[in-house]
Amino acid sequence: MKKEMWAIFGGSLLLYVVIVLLIAVGPAIDLARTPPGPGVKPLTPLEEEGRQVFASDGCDYCHTLQVRPLPEDKVFGRPSAPGDFAYATPEMLGSERTGPDLTDVGNRRGEVWQYMHLYDPRAVSPGSIMPNFKFMFHEVKAVPAGVAAVPLPPAFAPKNGDKVIPTQRAEALVAFLMSLKQPAIPGYAMNGGMGGQAVASAPAAAPAASAAGGYAYDAAKGKTGFDTTCAACHQANGEGVPTAFPPLKGNAAVGDDDPTTQLDTILHGRQGTVIGGVKYSGVMPPFAGQLNDEDIANIANYERSSWGNHAKPVTPAEVAKLRAAGK
Ligand code: HEC
Ligand code: HEC
Repeated sequence: MKKEMWAIFGGSLLLYVVIVLLIAVGPAIDLARTPPGPGVKPLTPLEEEGRQVFASDGCDYCHTLQVRPLPEDKVFGRPSAPGDFAYATPEMLGSERTGPDLTDVGNRRGEVWQYMHLYDPRAVSPGSIMPNFKFMFHEVKAVPAGVAAVPLPPAFAPKNGDKVIPTQRAEALVAFLMSLKQPAIPGYAMNGGMGGQAVASAPAAAPAASAAGGYAYDAAKGKTGFDTTCAACHQANGEGVPTAFPPLKGNAAVGDDDPTTQLDTILHGRQGTVIGGVKYSGVMPPFAGQLNDEDIANIANYERSSWGNHAKPVTPAEVAKLRAAGK
């Protein structure tokens, strides 16, 4: 009798251990060895610090860092793959989706936007229910040299005229948010169905480079130029920041077949004009000293053909003419 009892006990224990090894330990070891996906980079020390701030301030109570293979997640990017998390352990996938998924937010929003939004989400996203994180900022009388104040719309700036500057905590958090850029995996697009064969989607057709007098602009260079030089203020989606930076999507100057206003603004900068009935608090710096005619034409044409804009392309010769004419 005793012998049988031990046989049953030992047998079930062995079975239990084998099952745990098979369905938990084995897969865990296997997944821990997943190599980083293509283009996935380790976080810098500042970004890693920001990741800790993200965790300790409860951002994941409302935000996920994982795109599901579901149609409703398509706006947030491609479905997350195991290699995306190689340098982000322990993973903060999150499950509460009160706010948007942030996996690819570095490509959607600029740095200035992030600071304004953290200080007071309503400043850039009217009606937002996200709490403010004002304690991550200092309010100062004078902005120290080398520090950029957060350009807040008057209604959201401190009433006593103080300027707002980020603390180390905010800088680390924004560095982390800006690092959230989902690298493309060619041919990987499962949104719309669980598993199954990955559907290779054709690369988005580049806006037709139109030949104007033998000149064809470089769409890729225009996008890169815009993303690196202009998107901090006008945002990568061309929607600008309410009351601070005007939208270029559906913008009259960008949609005008006569490019004078658009090119003059890029070359010589501007501030304080009324655009679409709104006076913006930001300043558009001049780029004549930083970009050549070719760069400006590429960027201007990128604006003219993106976000639903369809305007006649400009040529470097037109840029040169306005550059020579001066302000
Ligand atoms: C109570 C829920 C809640 C918490 C907590 C919260 N958020 Fe949000 N968040 C939202 C909502 C709702 C939105 C959408 C409206 C908006 O843009 O403000 C949002 C939007 C955002 C966006 C813009 C996303 C996009 O696609 O444009 C970012 C970035 C963001 N939150 C970062 C953070 C960070 C960082 C923290 C922690 C410091 C945080 N959130 C904490 C609810 C929350
Ligand atoms: C530091 C923030 C900032 C940067 C960077 C910036 N802009 Fe601007 N931009 C502005 C502001 C603010 C205005 C509105 C100026 C005004 O009020 O007169 C503006 C206006 C414009 C306009 C005119 C819109 C209209 O309706 O008249 C165009 C076109 C434009 N910017 C294109 C660009 C391009 C192209 C770049 C990159 C090469 C760029 N901007 C970089 C802030 C910026």
